[in-house]
Amino acid sequence: MSEGRGRETDRRPGSRSDPNPDSATEEDGRPGIYGEYGGQYVPEALMPAIEELTDAYERYVLDNDENFMDDFEARITDFGGRPTPLQHAAQLSDRYDFEVYLKREDLLHGGAHKLNNALGQCLLAKYMGKERIVAETGAGQHGTATAMAAAHLGLDCEIYMGTRDIRRQRPNVFRIRLNGAQVNPVEAGRGTLKEAISETMRDWATTVEDTHYVIGSVVGPHPFPAMVRDFQRVIAEEIRAQSIETFDALPSSVVACAGGGSNTMGAFAAFTEERGRTGETGKAEETGGRDDSEVGLFAIEAGGSSLSVDEDRGVAPNSASLSTGSEGVLHGARTKLLQDRDGQIMESHSISSGLDYAGVGPELAALVDSERVRALSVDDDRALEGFHRLSQEEGIIPALETAHAIAWLDETDPAEVGDRVVVNVSGRGDKDLESALEETAKRDLDIAPEMDVFDVSAMASGSEADTSQEGTNGHDADANASTGSESSDSDGGEGNTR
Ligand SMILES: Cc1ncc(COP(=O)(O)O)c(C=O)c1O
Repeated sequence: MSEGRGRETDRRPGSRSDPNPDSATEEDGRPGIYGEYGGQYVPEALMPAIEELTDAYERYVLDNDENFMDDFEARITDFGGRPTPLQHAAQLSDRYDFEVYLKREDLLHGGAHKLNNALGQCLLAKYMGKERIVAETGAGQHGTATAMAAAHLGLDCEIYMGTRDIRRQRPNVFRIRLNGAQVNPVEAGRGTLKEAISETMRDWATTVEDTHYVIGSVVGPHPFPAMVRDFQRVIAEEIRAQSIETFDALPSSVVACAGGGSNTMGAFAAFTEERGRTGETGKAEETGGRDDSEVGLFAIEAGGSSLSVDEDRGVAPNSASLSTGSEGVLHGARTKLLQDRDGQIMESHSISSGLDYAGVGPELAALVDSERVRALSVDDDRALEGFHRLSQEEGIIPALETAHAIAWLDETDPAEVGDRVVVNVSGRGDKDLESALEETAKRDLDIAPEMDVFDVSAMASGSEADTSQEGTNGHDADANASTGSESSDSDGGEGNTR
């Protein structure tokens, strides 16, 4: 893998001491630079930790020192339950003029793709001699996966989570606590993923000696984007092998939802120029005559309630940074961002917490710029339809994040995606049941199930009561989250105002 080699220790890529980070390209052999994006934009105080991590990444992940990767692969099999199936979706295939296959990452332990990365990084922390783990979470899936991996490996664990997300994803807050980790509520800003990442970085900056930051997506300073992709690329390697086994060819397209971009990069990595640790590119009989570079790659972002932005209020009612963002620096890397004309990061929005982020991974941004990956978006209403469609037609309740990728199938045509389309089912929807029902009750969706059976009005009035309580005592969520006794509020009213 080119970018993990030949690291320049005297001129760090994209770091503040680099005289011209923009001129760098991955082809220069400079690790962590992807076209215009990537780098290490971090305070000097954090550089020793970043360098220590880069060395550990190269030594253990890339060079398999002390058989680290063998240990990881054994654990992600036995503890995680890999490989996940590649399942033919008969009803969706009938509905569309192409065959749909589902990569079932929802069946991975914890219910989402997040465990691949969380387990990999927790194991790396253990090999590095770190005893404490910190992590951020949006949808709670990464927090849950990290808490599970930390418990499995006997590490202390603290999870930072925005207060808005704590309300939206309560089941995962319980799961994190049950796995013995602490939940630290973050009230800053809108109380979502961006603020949680900032707070976790702050913690890490003062605790690097004994602590590793398990970042949850392909974002942040190098080596995080490359390392997270490498732990997630098992998804694409399995898609590739299972496609050849199932239908004697590579898929015509792979579709994945994009928040920070880890399930997208995980599902795409085998089909981009870099063929992985051991693989090789090239047309072959076994791939059905299709080259890896001919597999269509579609990243589906959250279109929220609108793709327009309100510059004056600093609000983008979407999380479509690939489709509508512009270049800037966030969380230690240069990438595509939702920002106003003064470079202030905008408040993002999505019906799904895991996509509700104003940035995106630098490598994914570069792959979109080079037109290897196409970025498209699906709005909140269509995503909810996708949620119900997969539940009703295939018996799989998806995460609201995943529902964006499912919904997009309805908006495409075979000429665009080809004959065999793999959709990465990044997670299951158990965490979303309450908010999905509330959001459905607010809309007039043809596909919605009969809602009378659910006491949605009671849920809605319950949420109003709790929201007003929050207004008079903003610290309640804080106190409750750290004791594990969250009140029953939800995010329904707030989501509707956008
Ligand atoms: C199920 C699921 N899918 C997708 C995402 C988006 O994250 P990423 O883009 O890093 O895969 C999340 C984030 O929490 C998630 O929980």
